[in-house]
Amino acid sequence: MENAIAGVVRYLGASLKNRGLYPPTHPLVRTPVEKCRTELAPIFTDRSELALTVSDGTLVLEGVPIFQLTSSLELFMARLGAIGLPAVIFERGVSVEDIELFVRFLHETKEQGLPIPEIKARLARWGVTHIRVTATEEEGKDDFTFAREIYGNALNVVVRALKDVRNGKTPDGAETYRAVREMSGMVSRNRDAMLALTLIKNFDTYTYNHSVNVSVLSLAVAETLGLPENERIGVGVAGLLHDVGKTQLALDLIRKPGTLTVEEFEEIKKHPEEGYAILGKMTHIQDSTRSVVREHHMRFDRTGYPRPEPEYRMNPHSNVIAVADCFDALTTMRSYQKASTPQQALVIMRKLAGKSLDPDLVELLERSLGVYPVGTMVRLSTMEVGIVTGNADGGRASRRWRSCSTGRGTRWPPRRGWT
Ligand SMILES: [Fe+2]
Ligand SMILES: [Fe+2]
Repeated sequence: MENAIAGVVRYLGASLKNRGLYPPTHPLVRTPVEKCRTELAPIFTDRSELALTVSDGTLVLEGVPIFQLTSSLELFMARLGAIGLPAVIFERGVSVEDIELFVRFLHETKEQGLPIPEIKARLARWGVTHIRVTATEEEGKDDFTFAREIYGNALNVVVRALKDVRNGKTPDGAETYRAVREMSGMVSRNRDAMLALTLIKNFDTYTYNHSVNVSVLSLAVAETLGLPENERIGVGVAGLLHDVGKTQLALDLIRKPGTLTVEEFEEIKKHPEEGYAILGKMTHIQDSTRSVVREHHMRFDRTGYPRPEPEYRMNPHSNVIAVADCFDALTTMRSYQKASTPQQALVIMRKLAGKSLDPDLVELLERSLGVYPVGTMVRLSTMEVGIVTGNADGGRASRRWRSCSTGRGTRWPPRRGWT
């Protein structure tokens, strides 16, 4: 293992040094990057991240200090220090392109002492997806602080994406992907810390909070399902952008309290197709994610919209978004409805299981939330009253996905709150 770790930094250093002498496509630049990726592969068989830090002038890779510095490693460490990078995390899934772009970033960045958020933003703009930078002092932060930052970042990404669409621009797919990957990582690390944030409802910014909440809830279900990382992220991106098509509707219509006219509802029904079209223009979007956005109101019993043809095969992940969408809508106060508590929402959803909602997924959402969902008010046997902030088992239960059902059932009642 130590040989592999030493190899990783050696090749990074070699590529960076040669980048100063040769063009990026030259084999002396490209080959060390490929070798670096090869060295990383076995390291990621039993861990998901590899941390590279500079501590007291020593290069430390995953706790192993590298004392015998070659000239290329000295250059590498000097560049990290000059730009202001105390810690770099390589994540499982890192590609040759990520490493190549990271080396290019180290080579081309001339500013010194850049703030970490600026470095993060630049790497995101360049499309680096599995190498992230952190300040070492972040190690002292607790999960709830991290979760709040990650949630806040996703909220900003949604605000920007929806604004871009309204201004006729295509939203940044790489930025969306990164925000969801961060949320997915946090859901894996501390699900309750992330789920707790979905219960903070903001009446004025409903659309944005709703998008992030549906993403977090979908990620929690996707993890309980045991889906692989790329599928989990695809589901999370679909959750984040599921209602992006509503940007094409009149604001008065989206905000209208009370019952919609038939004509108004026909307008609302266009948003999944509009969303599908918008995602088609974005980068970093999987085809399945687009389909899920298009299908998020088709419903388990196929009575929703757009109405599927009899032979149409729905993506099973569309039902994950539907369950998350329903739960968040029910637990949020709107001008036309009171907010249900998590338990009340689950009671309503159990009645819809097998009809408009996939019964297995309603059960999985319940398991993901735990017996006493985060945010639930409880009275203890001591008569003390408190709010649940976490579950001992975190609701972690995995289950294999079953094939997509085409069952038919009763129509979803004409609620206004789930469009
Ligand atoms: Fe929604
Ligand atoms: Fe929707």
